[in-house]
Amino acid sequence: MTAYPVLTVPESAFNACYLPYLEAPQRVQIFYGGAGSGKSVFLAARCVLDALTGRNTLIVRKIARTLRNSCFAEVQKSVNRFSLGDFFRVSKTDMNLTCLVNGAQILFLGLDDVEKIKSITPQKGALTDIWVEEATETQREDVKQLEKRLRGLSRHKKRLTLSFNPVSRAHWIYKEYFSAFPEETGKLQTEDLLILRTTYRDNRFLTADDRAGLENEKDSYFHQVYTLGEWGVVGGSVLTNWETGTRPTDLPREELRFGLDFGFARDPAALVMARYDKKRGVIHVLDEFKKVGLTNDVLAKEVLNMAGQMPVICDSGEPKSIAELRRHGVMALPAKKGPDSVLHGLQWLNQQRLIITPQCPQFLMEAQSYRWTPDGQGGSLPRPQGEDHLLDALRYAMEQDMLYSGARVLKRFV
Ligand SMILES: Nc1ncnc2c1ncn2[C@@H]1O[C@H](COP(=O)(O)OP(=O)(O)OP(=O)(O)O)[C@@H](O)[C@H]1O
Ligand SMILES: [Mg+2]
Repeated sequence: MTAYPVLTVPESAFNACYLPYLEAPQRVQIFYGGAGSGKSVFLAARCVLDALTGRNTLIVRKIARTLRNSCFAEVQKSVNRFSLGDFFRVSKTDMNLTCLVNGAQILFLGLDDVEKIKSITPQKGALTDIWVEEATETQREDVKQLEKRLRGLSRHKKRLTLSFNPVSRAHWIYKEYFSAFPEETGKLQTEDLLILRTTYRDNRFLTADDRAGLENEKDSYFHQVYTLGEWGVVGGSVLTNWETGTRPTDLPREELRFGLDFGFARDPAALVMARYDKKRGVIHVLDEFKKVGLTNDVLAKEVLNMAGQMPVICDSGEPKSIAELRRHGVMALPAKKGPDSVLHGLQWLNQQRLIITPQCPQFLMEAQSYRWTPDGQGGSLPRPQGEDHLLDALRYAMEQDMLYSGARVLKRFV
């Protein structure tokens, strides 16, 4: 007989709210809520301890390349935190962990990895657990297909675990699982279904800065979803923190910003001049220009008129137009535009005080009419709609300030 060492992991390694669920048996388990509430760390730790009991876990995200730095890293951290390095073999190339005591595995899969999706199986025994991290990235069909992988003989109860931030009541997960969920208590436990809502308040490991960042979130939608961990109702106006006001008398050069969105036949070219008082977090929208049908030489004149030799941050989708403007003497620079740039940019703008001066009536019109897209069921989708050429130009103009503001970059949430 082999004598296995007895492992003890102290309760203090966990946030108390998760402790009752270390061995929760429900077929479907949902851990959702605000940002930084400890969901991912808990679930990573749980599957490491589960492996020691012989459970095989498949950890899934929508996009394969996001796994390595999130779940795979988090699982390895748990192994180290519990000093279990001697009990696991980590394969960085195949991205998996194997428990050396019993052969159980922790495997990782991106739903976009079609090669791997059919073949991935643990080396010993059946798959007992699937954890879909950031499950709101997935379609219902994805998860239904995955669930079919939970078959085969095992002495362990099979479990599907979903974790996510509650981005929109219109999401399929809400419709599928939340009909009997008591929002007041934030907890549901039946024989087959477990749902637990947590927020940053449940995570005693957060730094004061992390807490302050979440508590000071000014955008009401982001506050609802990421601070309070409540299902988001994306409604009404996208821009929520603006007013009309007069033009300041002083315009220090270092505070001036210029942004340009290209357009030609259907879409107008749109140019914006703003002043950013970083200390007070105030943006004055000072001047605007918006017109269809302009060739780049005519546009260049307008830009030089407004911006002179100051840098103008342009839509990076038209490198040829940027080169042409430069030939005409405009200090045109491409925006960087990350994949999250629109939503992140809007969130950042809502954290500033935006003052629209009388010189910018068209900007005012855009700010008033830019709305979240209705989902057809009384809520809205986190996707803006409406005319946004000058708003885009302002986002480009402020891009550097956003990048260096230290603002928390929220995860992609569509
Ligand atoms: N048990 C723990 N021990 C040590 N640190 C922890 C623990 N739980 C959480 N943390 C710390 O809190 C941070 C946030 O936790 P985690 O990433 O699990 O939150 P989350 O709920 O998954 O957030 P999000 O919704 O943003 O993905 C972690 O990066 C880690 O620093
Ligand atoms: Mg997480």
